[in-house]
Amino acid sequence: MLEKIKKTTTFLVSKIKDTPEIGMITGTGLGSIAEKMTIDIRLSYKDIPNFPVSTVEGHRGTLVAGRLAGRQIIVCDGRFHLYEGYSPLEVVFPVRVMSMLGVRYLLISSAAGGLNPQFESGDLMIITDHINLTGTNPLIGPNMDVFGIRFPDMSSVYDPRLISLAREAAVESRISIRQGIYAGLTGPSLETPAETRFLRIIGADSVGMSTVSESIAGVHCNLKIIGIVVVTNINLPDCMQKTSIEEIINTAETAGQRLAELWEKIISKLPVQGLGNK
Ligand code: HPA
Repeated sequence: MLEKIKKTTTFLVSKIKDTPEIGMITGTGLGSIAEKMTIDIRLSYKDIPNFPVSTVEGHRGTLVAGRLAGRQIIVCDGRFHLYEGYSPLEVVFPVRVMSMLGVRYLLISSAAGGLNPQFESGDLMIITDHINLTGTNPLIGPNMDVFGIRFPDMSSVYDPRLISLAREAAVESRISIRQGIYAGLTGPSLETPAETRFLRIIGADSVGMSTVSESIAGVHCNLKIIGIVVVTNINLPDCMQKTSIEEIINTAETAGQRLAELWEKIISKLPVQGLGNK
């Protein structure tokens, strides 16, 4: 797998003019950030050696590199999920490639179900912490020492300073914002009322089928991570409503415009990190 990551990175280095400082992975219906960028290059995943291809509705499957808010950024517009049958290593492949390209920040967006009864459909939630309920971990297997250590510390996956910065950005952009804990499951089935009750009892504010694997790999390779979810539907155990993928995509697309605006503001405020390949 390491050889594949290196080959893909070498390919992308030959295609991308400037070293990206910021990497982003976008979720269902949330690719509108690319519309705000000055694009240097846009590549379909199928044209990138070793890149998996996303098979899900609402996920575009393109890698876009360029500038946003004066910063060099690379966006994976469309991600890979465990429920598609990808291994945890494949799911985090783009994170490791972006790290090897020299990225220092990992920005993650995702659609999620709301568990906190104060949340409403369409809300944006900054992830303050996560609960990995996927039953697996992308770091299982021989440790890839080039990226990081065997037992990475997980005490602040989502850096508190970056959470404050994201909140400030939301205030300045007059975008209302929530914050809370994200529970990551494999899916693809949605949650039963009993599972929903359980997730709330263990402290989750939102639930989704992505993000946790990517964040774990991001911590492993020492990236600074910000995660923001769009709450696309509300799951309350005592009055569960039926949820459809169409509803999730529609809400994500509408809220995605607001999220793209927020990302642009956040990016403009990110402290500049040392660049260069690791
Ligand atoms: N559950 C899990 N994942 C999701 C949901 C949900 O209700 N909504 C969007 N992604």
